[in-house]
Amino acid sequence: MGLRNCHFNHILAEWPAVDWFEAISENFMDSGGRPGHVLRQIAERYPVVLHGVSMSIGSTAPLDRGYLDRLKRLADGVRAVWVSDHLCWTGIAGINSHDLLPLPLNDETLRHIVQRVHEVQDILERPLILENPSTYIGFRDSNIAEPDFLRALADETGCGLLLDVNNVYVSCFNAGTDPVAYLEAFPFDRVVQMHLAGHQHCGTHLIDTHDGPVCDSVWELYRLAWQRTGGVSTLLEWDGDVPPFQQMHDEVLRAREFMQGAFDHGRLIGKATVQTASISTPVDFLIPGVMQSNRLEAA
Ligand SMILES: [Fe+2]
Repeated sequence: MGLRNCHFNHILAEWPAVDWFEAISENFMDSGGRPGHVLRQIAERYPVVLHGVSMSIGSTAPLDRGYLDRLKRLADGVRAVWVSDHLCWTGIAGINSHDLLPLPLNDETLRHIVQRVHEVQDILERPLILENPSTYIGFRDSNIAEPDFLRALADETGCGLLLDVNNVYVSCFNAGTDPVAYLEAFPFDRVVQMHLAGHQHCGTHLIDTHDGPVCDSVWELYRLAWQRTGGVSTLLEWDGDVPPFQQMHDEVLRAREFMQGAFDHGRLIGKATVQTASISTPVDFLIPGVMQSNRLEAA
């Protein structure tokens, strides 16, 4: 389960039967107040992993040593099983865009990120886990496919991978490429965790909104991915219009229905419902004022 503030009271009162929690690093690393206190209590009873949105591993700005030191303190304090972030950049020259921005995937970028992943792992004293982001554009300078880029990065640094199946579906739809071919090329032996999430269909493009249940096509892709990984920890991301705890838990438990059985390509390409435009996540719930002023409109 993703740990969300609106569920704190329920968790502390009921100590529900949940396998583990994923906490958004930035929500807790600067907090000495109640969120930090709650997380420490939860970490005494459940395994906790940390998932960040601000490491900016792909930026050309120097790594933020203060951020990494605070992240390590938090990870040590809650005995985080692993620490993850995204293959992206989030800002430059001291400016945080509060979004997960795409990278040109080529050899120059690979060399740059390999060196930075080594640096981060030395500071954190644990392997970093990197996630495939959802993307809306590509670069003319990209000449390495994302699965191959992630494979090379993992081989050269020893980092692990977080496979976000919804991001695969969103990025491939937006790029007009085949999500099954993407998965066929993915280095599954490096995957330590998977993400599922809901997105919004805006007709010409999908937006990774994390504000609803998982769609049929993503569940079907998950079936393929889960079997290829041999079964790794799965987390449902739900960050906007967060439902009551039990509804969110019931949705993640649906994953068990899709772990076995043959992959149904027909279900993957089933008709989707076009929805209204929305803002992207996962950071909008952190800073709604900023994201609302950058609202994306449907084409
Ligand atoms: Fe994700």
